[in-house]
Amino acid sequence: MTFAGRKDDHLRLALAQQRALTVDPRPSPFDDIAFVHHALRGIAPREVSLSTEVCGARWPVPLYINAMTGGSDRTGEVNRGLATAARRTGVAIASGSMSAYLADPAVADTYAVLRAENPGGFVIANVNANATPSMAARAVRLLSADALQVHVNPIQETVMPEGDRDFSAWPRNIAAMVSGVDVPVIVKEVGFGISGATVTQLADLGVRAVDVSGRGGTNFALIESARRERSDSGLLGGWGQSTPVCLVDSVAAARAREVTLLASGGVRTPLDVVRSLALGARAVGVSGYFLAVLESDGLDALVEVIEDWIAQIRRLMVVLGASTVSALSKTDVLLTGDLAEVCRLLGWDPADYARRSRSPR
Ligand code: FNR
Repeated sequence: MTFAGRKDDHLRLALAQQRALTVDPRPSPFDDIAFVHHALRGIAPREVSLSTEVCGARWPVPLYINAMTGGSDRTGEVNRGLATAARRTGVAIASGSMSAYLADPAVADTYAVLRAENPGGFVIANVNANATPSMAARAVRLLSADALQVHVNPIQETVMPEGDRDFSAWPRNIAAMVSGVDVPVIVKEVGFGISGATVTQLADLGVRAVDVSGRGGTNFALIESARRERSDSGLLGGWGQSTPVCLVDSVAAARAREVTLLASGGVRTPLDVVRSLALGARAVGVSGYFLAVLESDGLDALVEVIEDWIAQIRRLMVVLGASTVSALSKTDVLLTGDLAEVCRLLGWDPADYARRSRSPR
């Protein structure tokens, strides 16, 4: 199977997952997070700033279009749509894995369109954890990227017939990229999550930003399983931690080691964005949901959805009395159900989240 064929498969199967969610909405891990309602804490909209700091840059809104695609004609057109939406709304955008470009420069335009359509935006290049510093630097150069994402996806690789089987070099490779490229490095999962212990390990490697990309949305164990001739029916379909679990498990390590925490994986609503920010993320990434809007309803619809989300994030911050993204981490939050149970098993007390606004600032 060629790179291009694989990228087209991923797009088609990720869209099918999103469509299935609209027909039969599964419960979302984010539903286990509720804000304690304080009816008199609201502030004025003009007091609210949505801006946030990521990789040393100030983003106007704490939202980004996360890594998806590139490498074939069809995915190049998708990238054109996503990049135009990013330019029109001011959100940051990440490229899909640039392995196809590193293997065959003929597909450069299918990625370079992200910068061509969005010359002033925050653009992130994306490589896998086998890349050398010089490969990573080539990817960054093609996009004049502001940051580099390195994805770690051992479960996806394991399910892929043509996937990697040996991950022992990844920590070493990540450290080499951190010192070898001249933009900040963000390490991300692809939907199975990052643990608190992994955040500490990444901090030791010099990484300053981590996107937990947890379970609950696009599921690459199921996507790769569906691509196989003899499907294993998604043996690993339930693997990994949900995005809220990842945030609770990682926030202390991130704070202790000055790592910026980013959230993605299963984000379907502006309320999910605000919930993620309240659990300690500095910005929130969306892939599958935005892709489905673009593909089914077109570019203007995606722009409208992102603008609506930004307006709703602001409204929620007004009601919660949070004038900044970081103020959201002092709101009172109820963690219930599976989320509370898993957090307890990992040694975190959900009760600590319910009365945060009473603790000294
Ligand atoms: C992805 N994702 C991804 N991630 C990455 O680091 N490199 C990649 O090339 C891809 N490719 C890709 C293709 C498609 C079609 C989708 C939908 C997703 C993973 C993505 O960035 C994110 O981590 C997960 O999709 C979880 O977020 P959502 O989709 O639940 O919002």
